Amino acid sequence: MNVLIKNATLVNADTSERADLLTRDGIIERIAPNIELPEDPSVEIINAAGHYVIPGGVDVHTHLNIDVGIAQSCDDFYSGTVSAACGGTTTIVDHMGFGPAGCSLHHQLERYHAFARDKAVIDYSFHGTIQHIDDSILEEMESMVLEEGISSFKLYLTYGYKLDDSQVLAALERLNQLNALTCVHPENDGAIRFLKEKVLAQGSNAPIYHALSRPPECEAEAVGRMINLATLAGDAPIYIVHLSNGIGLEYIRQAHQRGQAVFAETCPQYLSLDINKYNSSTGENGAAEHPYDEGLKYIMSPPLRDSYHQNQLWQGVMDGTISTVATDHCAFTMAQKRAGRDGFQYCPNGIPGVENRVPLLFSEGVMKDRISINHFVELVSTRPAQLFGLYPRKGLIAEGADADLVIIDPKREVTLSQRLMHGRSDYCPYEGMKLQGYPIMTLSRGEIIVRDGHFTGKPGHGQFLHRQPLNECFRYWEK
Ligand code: URP
Ligand code: ZN
Ligand code: ZN
Repeated sequence: MNVLIKNATLVNADTSERADLLTRDGIIERIAPNIELPEDPSVEIINAAGHYVIPGGVDVHTHLNIDVGIAQSCDDFYSGTVSAACGGTTTIVDHMGFGPAGCSLHHQLERYHAFARDKAVIDYSFHGTIQHIDDSILEEMESMVLEEGISSFKLYLTYGYKLDDSQVLAALERLNQLNALTCVHPENDGAIRFLKEKVLAQGSNAPIYHALSRPPECEAEAVGRMINLATLAGDAPIYIVHLSNGIGLEYIRQAHQRGQAVFAETCPQYLSLDINKYNSSTGENGAAEHPYDEGLKYIMSPPLRDSYHQNQLWQGVMDGTISTVATDHCAFTMAQKRAGRDGFQYCPNGIPGVENRVPLLFSEGVMKDRISINHFVELVSTRPAQLFGLYPRKGLIAEGADADLVIIDPKREVTLSQRLMHGRSDYCPYEGMKLQGYPIMTLSRGEIIVRDGHFTGKPGHGQFLHRQPLNECFRYWEK
């Protein structure tokens, strides 16, 4: 089926245009002020008057099928991508989870291909995970980038497979040579260990102590360290994932003033939820069964912060210091989260959100006049596609690009609720939040896969995306 979208406002990161758009065989074939076609049963006509059409959302930070040691996340490549599609996201780049100690990069790649194939309903790729560094991993990176199309890798400064500074330098230097982007989870492992042991020794194991033992300084220190290590590694471009605090943001701003290629991502949870969630004993639906249950829903790393940091992050989004908004979707059920009733350290870290990102940023950003509609498109679609080697096939409405399109009705009012979500988690972190504007249709390579909140796509429609190495223009910071 081909689609003719009429009377739309087509929005890109740099332009908005009133035009009609025709898709054919999964590609945007034509954009023109008025496209009239002879009667053709193979073309569905959609009247999008009063609506925005944006390039499909590109979420470059999800964790599907991830095993975090104490639990296995509940969304796989079917439920996670259905949820993404229903929220206006048409491409994900998933962080391959951890494999057995010492495993190769290809080991995880093969596992993730098997997880996604035949299940994904939208297009997808993966970031490589660097669990350890040795000659064989450094060697293997080349074929991952050039043959397998994996042009970004993630390393952790905390958790079980953290790298030390010399390993980080080795990874940065090698990935820089290969024009691959290094993504970092920045938290100071030693400081967290010290603070965590201290609160637990005092018998303080409620959810709030998860946040208090991972304060903003732990994250900011690691952000600053990464910025300096990247310089030492020959000006390697870096991508800071899930930035949650204003101190780290300031370090990034200073790096930009020196022209350093430091790209920062934040997530809707850090822009719209705050640290008080950990102290809450009742949710939107009334009293919880256990005093910790409500707080456990929000256990993630880094944790939610106070309103100072939230305001700083919005400032960073508005002034362009923050390049992308992704979700870090890592969903668990309440049954899994309830392991934290015995102490926050037993609660699996992560929250669902892949379905909430596009509508939430549209409502909180565009409809509240914090960012323009073009800047919104840049944050949720164009810039992630550019940084991760998917542009101009993704992240752009133009003739020849993939017909990944989302129609947003700015008049649609939605109160977020678990009942409306399509993932497998049984709670929504944004329960009760009122949004102005919502995606009403999602097309993936020309197929209508969501109509008015109903998923109409098919498992296996999603294709693996072989990504390009980092574009030269992202080797230096330029606004
Ligand atoms: O708590 C989180 N963020 N869980 C997912 C893994 C990660 O750190 O990105
Ligand atoms: Zn992380
Ligand atoms: Zn993550």
